[in-house]
Amino acid sequence: MSMKVHIADFSSDYHRQARKLRAEVLRKPLGLPANDPAFNDRKEDVHFVALSREKVVGIVVLVPDYKPIVGKLRQMATAEEVRGEGYGIELVKALEDYAANNGLTSIVLHSRHYAVGFYEKLGYKVTSDVFQEVGMDHFVMEKSL
Ligand SMILES: CC(C)(COP(=O)(O)OP(=O)(O)OC[C@H]1O[C@@H](n2cnc3c(N)ncnc32)[C@H](O)[C@@H]1OP(=O)(O)O)[C@@H](O)C(=O)NCCC(=O)NCCS
Repeated sequence: MSMKVHIADFSSDYHRQARKLRAEVLRKPLGLPANDPAFNDRKEDVHFVALSREKVVGIVVLVPDYKPIVGKLRQMATAEEVRGEGYGIELVKALEDYAANNGLTSIVLHSRHYAVGFYEKLGYKVTSDVFQEVGMDHFVMEKSL
């Protein structure tokens, strides 16, 4: 397996591929449209993409200014055909390295209920009661860097 994680420039081809993957993996199963304002990205956010043979097969986004010295991880998704091959973990590690090198001391995220085990493997802890987001049970999870 040749695995590469890159930071995609805003509006680059990698960014466009990543949006397509996010729409397919995160939005389509919930019946959410690919094009709505809530799906818009900000230039300030950092888009990490995992590549396999130059194709985007994974994505995660860092909101670096979520709170002072706290970053938010969002839009975590890998393509179904590469699941279990380590792309998810490599993406989160790249995000955490970038965050730590840029003065952030912790990461917070909203995990869909079925993804909690994935983030626990990476050292994240549940810090909230269950709550609803996009019509699904979620938990706040956090990790100190
Ligand atoms: C969750 C997701 C990003 C994991 O990506 P991945 O590419 O399969 O991750 P990896 O291959 O790096 O897996 C790392 C480890 O986490 C485990 N893991 C993956 N998904 C898991 C889950 N939902 N619950 C528990 N463990 C999980 C893997 O088994 C693997 O364990 P191992 O190292 O002991 O074999 C991917 O399944 C996905 O895109 N799911 C649909 C979208 C989603 O749920 N996104 C998160 C929204 S909050």
